[in-house]
Amino acid sequence: MESIGPAGLQPGERVLGCPQEGLPLPSDRSELVQECLQQFKVTRTQLQQIQASLLDSMEQALKGQASPASTVRMLPTYVGSTPHGTEQGNFLVLELGATGASLRVLWVTLTGIKGHRVEPRSQEFVIPEEVVLGTGQQLFDFAACCLSEFLDAHPVENQGLQLGFSFSFPCHQTGLDRSTLISWTKGFRCSGVEGQDVVQLLRDAIQRQGAYSIDVVAVVNDTVGTMMGCEPGTGPCEIGLIVDTGTNACYMEEARHVAALDEDRGRTCVSIEWGSFDNDRVLGPVMTTFDHALDQESLNPGAQRFEKMIGGLYLGELVRLVLAHLARRGILFGGCTSPALLSQGSIRLEYVAMMESPSTGAAHVHTILQDLGLSLEASDAELVQRVCAVVCTRAAQLCAAALAAVLTRLQHSREQQTLQVAVATGGQVFERHPRFHSVLQETVMLLVPECDVSFIPSVDGGGRGVAMVTAVAARLAAHRRLLEETLAPFQLNTKQLEAVQVQMREAMAKGLRGETSSLRMLPTYVRATPDGSERGDFLALDLGGTNFRVLLVRLTEGGVQIINQVYSIPECVAQGSGQQLFDHIVDCIVDFQQRQGLSGQSLPLGFTFSFPCKQVGLDQGILLSWTKGFNASDCEGHDVVHLLREAIKRRQAVELNVVAIVNDTVGTMMSCGYEDPRCEMGLIVGTGTNACYMEELQNVVDVAGESGQMCINMEWGAFGDDGSLGMLSTCFDTSVDQASINPGKQRFEKMISGMYLGEIVRHILLHLTSVGVLFRGQQTQCLQTRDIFKTKFLSEIESDSLALRQVRTILEDLGLPLTSDDALMVLEVCQAVSRRAAQLCGAGVAAVVEKIRENRGLEELTVSVGVDGTLYKLHPHFSSLVTATVQELAPRCKVIFLQSEDGSGKGAALVTAVACRLAQKTRV
Ligand code: G6P
Ligand code: BGC
Ligand code: BGC
Repeated sequence: MESIGPAGLQPGERVLGCPQEGLPLPSDRSELVQECLQQFKVTRTQLQQIQASLLDSMEQALKGQASPASTVRMLPTYVGSTPHGTEQGNFLVLELGATGASLRVLWVTLTGIKGHRVEPRSQEFVIPEEVVLGTGQQLFDFAACCLSEFLDAHPVENQGLQLGFSFSFPCHQTGLDRSTLISWTKGFRCSGVEGQDVVQLLRDAIQRQGAYSIDVVAVVNDTVGTMMGCEPGTGPCEIGLIVDTGTNACYMEEARHVAALDEDRGRTCVSIEWGSFDNDRVLGPVMTTFDHALDQESLNPGAQRFEKMIGGLYLGELVRLVLAHLARRGILFGGCTSPALLSQGSIRLEYVAMMESPSTGAAHVHTILQDLGLSLEASDAELVQRVCAVVCTRAAQLCAAALAAVLTRLQHSREQQTLQVAVATGGQVFERHPRFHSVLQETVMLLVPECDVSFIPSVDGGGRGVAMVTAVAARLAAHRRLLEETLAPFQLNTKQLEAVQVQMREAMAKGLRGETSSLRMLPTYVRATPDGSERGDFLALDLGGTNFRVLLVRLTEGGVQIINQVYSIPECVAQGSGQQLFDHIVDCIVDFQQRQGLSGQSLPLGFTFSFPCKQVGLDQGILLSWTKGFNASDCEGHDVVHLLREAIKRRQAVELNVVAIVNDTVGTMMSCGYEDPRCEMGLIVGTGTNACYMEELQNVVDVAGESGQMCINMEWGAFGDDGSLGMLSTCFDTSVDQASINPGKQRFEKMISGMYLGEIVRHILLHLTSVGVLFRGQQTQCLQTRDIFKTKFLSEIESDSLALRQVRTILEDLGLPLTSDDALMVLEVCQAVSRRAAQLCGAGVAAVVEKIRENRGLEELTVSVGVDGTLYKLHPHFSSLVTATVQELAPRCKVIFLQSEDGSGKGAALVTAVACRLAQKTRV
């Protein structure tokens, strides 16, 4: 086949005028016409091949399989449902890119009443060519200017103006209001926009303009606007089809099939971007020499080749190229061309439509072509009409093959043999070209006879649909604002954390001096960390964490061996009588001894008792108050070692030698200190929270002696019980405190530890539900249930490896029926709560290590902290947030966190071993 040069010229041809040689004979003439027009014929098999190949390309792209840029893109649009019809409000809509180089501004009113429509007000602006091909800033400034002009001319209340942006180019959306342009199409080529978020560019321009304050709430492709604005008779409309300057379609896909989305339920709207479909195997045979020429002379050669056979921007151009060719071959216009005929863009889409009209077409052909400087011969008009018809027929047929692929895709994804579906159609080609529509419809019926398709023309060019999406986006944005407001008090800045650190230091100093302070700073009578020479067999008890354990600890030259057994403490025992509790403990010890063949032996016993105790010696600890849900009667104010010995007596036949009572923080510090002598602090972040550290004896007023050190159990869980944390406490903290069994107590602990974080989250979720942000505002019984939200869930939900859909499964297992938006918000709530906890904990650690550094008069301190507790160990980010906070607040301390592997029982055994060694020494 001959080739056509960029300007539609053949080599050696004169630019203008008529041929020097004679015209072809009539017989040759019809053969030449035939040969030319035949190129536009597409067979049914070819259409079926295109349909199959496009479907394949769509399915590959859905799976996220690496596909060449030249195939369909399947872009998620973040529109999750077709409209309810209840959306309401006034919205500004800005349309860019659908119809040629123009821009439309609309004012759309949604009444919220089905079937009740208010005509939108609209104004069209022509974009000057230098802007279409200029810089992005010029384009967006022009758009902002048009918005102002529109609002000047149509005064509306200038408050809370919400705008939906219909931007009809291929974009990667990452949210309803975030969308990055992939590449320009359809004759646009503004610099500096590809790869940028077009919403941000528009917002910036509106701000530069400064005349109106407009909130850009949503960005939408024209296909989506068309689909969303459609009011079908029966059933929802789930396909939007545009044949305007360009062409494209969107449809509702099952979310679980869209690999790019982290979503497994419901449907989501996908913009196919079929204009870039370009499989040479199936498109090659239907592309004519004219298509190749048109592509070459376009702004984006090689791109959007499917669109260039269908879109309105190109149909007139194809007709022009064919007419010019036929003129040059002497078949039309007496073999003469004209400058207008040879210039790009001189035959516009509307001319083609007019010339094709069966009734008035012939007359139009004459006037239009004469205007282009051509003189027509008798038979020319009919031939020109045939040219228009073949070009448009082919376009409609190709479009039908593409639509058939979408319908087949819907059949696949819905697993339905037959399909009843409404397609919303929009764009100039539909509006101006009645025949395009009928050919499309016929061809679709031919290709997918099993589908019952109704076509519904869009009424106001999709503006209403854009407003619908904007209404939904505005509601979501309002929800987000409420969420952010709710979580704001949980976001602590450095200043606030520094203040916590300072207050903690003051409370420590007061507590050590014996003054009233929320920090009790209890001496533990542990004067040294282990030196590794400790030996022997010891029993240990470990009470106060998630598990109650009895242990046998063997300290040998070869290392430490631990045998332990976990026993449960039923809630009725933890909150029953003291006698019951201690009898239960002794029963467990007896059971352990029997199982381990230790009956009758009286091994030294260390008792990890993780509650605040005032010690007056190593083996005497008066329980000051229960914490963490324990509340056994007749224990507070009593020596727990005595209570244990009494229970042993009651049980007769058992002999136990209780040597030491140890807080879990101390046990943890000792246990880690056995491996690392620099370990001088113990930290627990589990069911409860607390810390201990080695203090200079001279600073401890309650204990005699001026030299050496003593481990101090800070009981920092009670920090703030004097009201000093009031500034940081939120209404949710108050609710959690009030509902606890010790209101007003352990306020720091209640902001940090595992027993309470889940409850804080639950209270926040209740609030967000009550303001309609979560769970569609529906309160569930489950959420009213105390302690339903375990710390374990926080750790699971925040795990990085977990997809949002898994988060949802966890929440659904709890009986919370949520959407993916809900799941994301719950995740954010968990993050805010656990982040604050970790930062407060870090501020506490910073206060302690700074105190140690200052005690020693050091410029810099290197210190290790032994840590234990389920929250610290299981939460995916807690430990790193603690570390980061300590680094920020105590920059002169190098703090190494060591996780205790064996629990505090081993530490209790070590304290016991040291005590036995010292006792032996004094006996000698
Ligand atoms: C330690 C102990 C427990 C302690 C716990 C804190 O290792 O052996 O007695 O209270 O850790 O963790 P939890 O998360 O169980 O409260
Ligand atoms: C764009 C699509 C748009 C279509 C119809 C194409 O050139 O890439 O995003 O939907 O034209 O306007
Ligand atoms: C107790 C502490 C204990 C901490 C961690 C707090 O409730 O008062 O003694 O160390 O929990 O288990």
